[in-house]
Amino acid sequence: MRGIILSGGSATRLRPCTKVTSKQLLPVYNRPMIYYPLNTLIKAGIKEILIIVAPERAGDYLNLLGSGKEFGVRFTYEIQDKPTGIAEAFLIGENFIDDEDVTLILGDNIFEDDLSEDIKSFKKGARVFAKKVSDPERFGVVKFDENMKAEKIVEKPKEWMSDYAVTGLYVYDNRVVQISKDLKPSDRGELEITDINKVYLEMGELDVAMVNGEWIDAGTFDSLLRAQNLAKEKLQDKLVI
Ligand code: DAU
Repeated sequence: MRGIILSGGSATRLRPCTKVTSKQLLPVYNRPMIYYPLNTLIKAGIKEILIIVAPERAGDYLNLLGSGKEFGVRFTYEIQDKPTGIAEAFLIGENFIDDEDVTLILGDNIFEDDLSEDIKSFKKGARVFAKKVSDPERFGVVKFDENMKAEKIVEKPKEWMSDYAVTGLYVYDNRVVQISKDLKPSDRGELEITDINKVYLEMGELDVAMVNGEWIDAGTFDSLLRAQNLAKEKLQDKLVI
């Protein structure tokens, strides 16, 4: 299993704090934000990790994280020239992924749960992680049938469809690279991760695991503040880095 942390983007919602640095390097209590998703991957036993960053921030990431030796893993770095979609991670990472399975985590997603077993037990298809939220319109959303089997998945639905958000942690088999190559940009001009999940759903190979503990997408000032408190109160003894 290979790991990818997508840590690019321009984070305009966090200006002026992100004017001279990357959102995922901002402090979340006593660690840079990216340490939390990195912790999720390292705990799951992933040793080869690709970090995708925006060009103007690449030096900062290298200075902070280095080779990975300090954490007992190996980092590879790639640049995403423009934030043209989460699914682009699999095109940028094609050589890195090689013929392995891959876990992608967004650099601003913070999980309270230890999801290691869900990652380690992955065999085939796709596994995503859902969480019940009060503001589903902000996220990719998954609708379940009466047997809690996923039946529909939509990116930021305008009409209410379900309260279950798809979080920023995704596990795929190697077919994800070819699926990404076949994607067309959405109306907002991005290669959508939700479109990849739709392909696996249509093949009957999308498995949805539930997130029980807290999950925070730390992309706004309010969610960043919540992340700080979560990190201080509940995450300190769960971090291996
Ligand atoms: O946080 C989970 C949500 O993440 C999912 O529920 C959605 O399905 C998914 O589309 C995504 O929604 P966001 O609106 O949060 O995506 P955003 O554009 O804010 O990007 C999420 C993170 O990924 C952000 O920290 C920046 C990074 N990113 C994003 C894009 C589009 C990149 O590094 N490159 C990109 O091209």
